[in-house]
Amino acid sequence: MEKEEVKILAIETSCDETAAAVVRNGREVLSNVISSQIELHKLYGGVVPEIASRKHIEKINQVVEEALEESQMTLDDIDAIAVTYGPGLVGALLVGVAFAKSLAFAKKKPLVGVHHIEGHISANYIENLELEPPFMCLVVSGGHSHLVHVKEYGKYEIIGRTRDDAAGEAFDKVARALGLGYPGGPKIDKLAKEGNKDAIKFPRAVIEGAPNDFSFSGLKSAVLNYLNQCEMKQVEVNRADVAASFQQAVVDVLVGHAVLATKQLGLTKLALAGGVASNSSLREAMRTECLRQGIQFYHPSPIFCTDNAAMIGVAGYYEYIRGIRDGFDLNAVPNLKIGER
Ligand code: KG4
Ligand code: ZN
Repeated sequence: MEKEEVKILAIETSCDETAAAVVRNGREVLSNVISSQIELHKLYGGVVPEIASRKHIEKINQVVEEALEESQMTLDDIDAIAVTYGPGLVGALLVGVAFAKSLAFAKKKPLVGVHHIEGHISANYIENLELEPPFMCLVVSGGHSHLVHVKEYGKYEIIGRTRDDAAGEAFDKVARALGLGYPGGPKIDKLAKEGNKDAIKFPRAVIEGAPNDFSFSGLKSAVLNYLNQCEMKQVEVNRADVAASFQQAVVDVLVGHAVLATKQLGLTKLALAGGVASNSSLREAMRTECLRQGIQFYHPSPIFCTDNAAMIGVAGYYEYIRGIRDGFDLNAVPNLKIGER
């Protein structure tokens, strides 16, 4: 018999945020501390793995302490420790995994390794208490663009994926070409509000025979070509129009694919997850289309869309109550597949 109340301490260090959180019963976030390295990586225009690992080592102790303090808990009150063990940057993941293992060992607490993307998906449970599987989830982050059928808690099937760039990667690369800096997603989101989304016709890629798959590299090249041509012809670029037209091309494809897949599988619920899920235009378009199609639409608040540990605590809880436990041989798996246990 599980205890009625389960409090999980969760740790996330897969990329450039050092994060820790305490989550009660999988749905209630008691604390959510995020130490972002963005300012540091900005100098290089992207995440530098070596710097990320070093910063995680510097910060992890303090971040975990703060998460416990904010939740007014001590390690003794915690029932299990959940940690992201993949996918992500191996050196960055290792810091969280080693730290979680040492806490679990010292305090004799169960250890639960969590898949980063399953964490992103589970972020939807925090503010939508009524949401339960089955549902479709569009996961769009800096490293991933997946359509995932969430069959049950902890049971996932990928039904579509990107063939090249992830959606967030496309945002970041186009933003860089527009001179907007890193990370590009939020900057394009903001600038697009001042532009005309119909100003430039950028391609919407459809992959023959694979209606659930994505491709964003052609769109990225089309934007770069457009910018080069403007430069050659010495025509002034309206950056807001480029941002708005590019964003609309991404949004059209994401919404079209996600809604089609939801209907094809006879599902009635569609959720968004990952950093790009905080894009205002994507949310709006998804909301409108879901309403039109009679689909319930869910998304996390922006703070739970980008990398955080609360989402790892939620996913970790559902693993924990299914009886999943990891040993001290838990290792970082940089290319961990979803649902692979
Ligand atoms: O989920 P996340 O924090 O990290 C990964 O697991 O990859 O996602 C980061 C990505 C970046 O590519 C960033 O540009 C994008 O999410 N992003 C956005 C927005 N906010 C973050 N993209 C579009 N619109 C946004 N508002
Ligand atoms: Zn992420």
